Amino acid sequence: MTARIIDGKIIAAELRARVAGIIIAAELRARVAGEVARVVREHGITPGLAVVLVGSDPASEIYVRSKHKQTQAAGMASFEHVLPADVAQNDLLALIAKLNHDPAVHGILVQLPLPKSVDTETIINAIDPAKDVDGLHPNNAGRLAGGFAALSPCTPLGCIILTKSVHASLQGMNAIVIGRSNLVGRPLVQLLLNENATVTIAHSRSRELAQLCARADLVYAAVGKPEMVRGDWIKPGATVIDVGITRLPGADGKTRLAGDVAFQEVSNVAGAITPVPGGVGQMTVACLLVNTLRAACAIHGLAKPGV
Ligand code: GUN
Repeated sequence: MTARIIDGKIIAAELRARVAGIIIAAELRARVAGEVARVVREHGITPGLAVVLVGSDPASEIYVRSKHKQTQAAGMASFEHVLPADVAQNDLLALIAKLNHDPAVHGILVQLPLPKSVDTETIINAIDPAKDVDGLHPNNAGRLAGGFAALSPCTPLGCIILTKSVHASLQGMNAIVIGRSNLVGRPLVQLLLNENATVTIAHSRSRELAQLCARADLVYAAVGKPEMVRGDWIKPGATVIDVGITRLPGADGKTRLAGDVAFQEVSNVAGAITPVPGGVGQMTVACLLVNTLRAACAIHGLAKPGV
């Protein structure tokens, strides 16, 4: 029998090819915590984040718990507000008005999706744009689209940081963003344009997606269709960022998490790829902390933090 050679060089290269959201997010959280400590020490200001959860969607509950823990771990104040699924819209608006005026709160996030009885647009529009750490208020979305300084949505910010961990500059690169949601696809396109990438926007009605992807150096999948992006769509060496996360039935009656990218197939072709879980998801909360720190500094007229 011939022994299998364990080639450290190949394994290390494979590991590097997995864009390690866990490590990059941990580094970012540590940098935020350092800057928070400085702002507290030098200015006596503790950045504060208020998260509002309406109803008891299990996935949202997990996200909100994680935000609470990580906000506290970064040295910030965390305020959690849980309202029943049948809350009256006016009561939710009253809470947002209170948070808008609360000097201890610098960031407000209303966890989405909201129950059907509440109008999401009305709620988002009620948030003070200076505290809109989700970057969803039309003032911030418009500023981002216009190329002006803005609070930008956290998941797209995380996607850019992950991409830049692979490529120092995105200038002139061909990027494709699959998905056009306000939370991910649209703001991601704007952030990529700010990086001077050439951007194709694709979505559920786009034709010939495989051919569109084949030209892309950077592929962002944010459609919520598990394993839709296949290995033979990808240009060899491309960087693939998977924003999707769907729970699917797995072996032995268990469940498993799947992204929008067929990971095994695509990792044979791509130069770098984010895993699910452990990729983009890790970055979203880390970027929420960044936005809260930035909002606190802006509200108090302090210099932009070093993160
Ligand atoms: N639900 C899933 N992701 C997000 C997010 O980034 N912000 C909000 N508000 N809700 C979400």
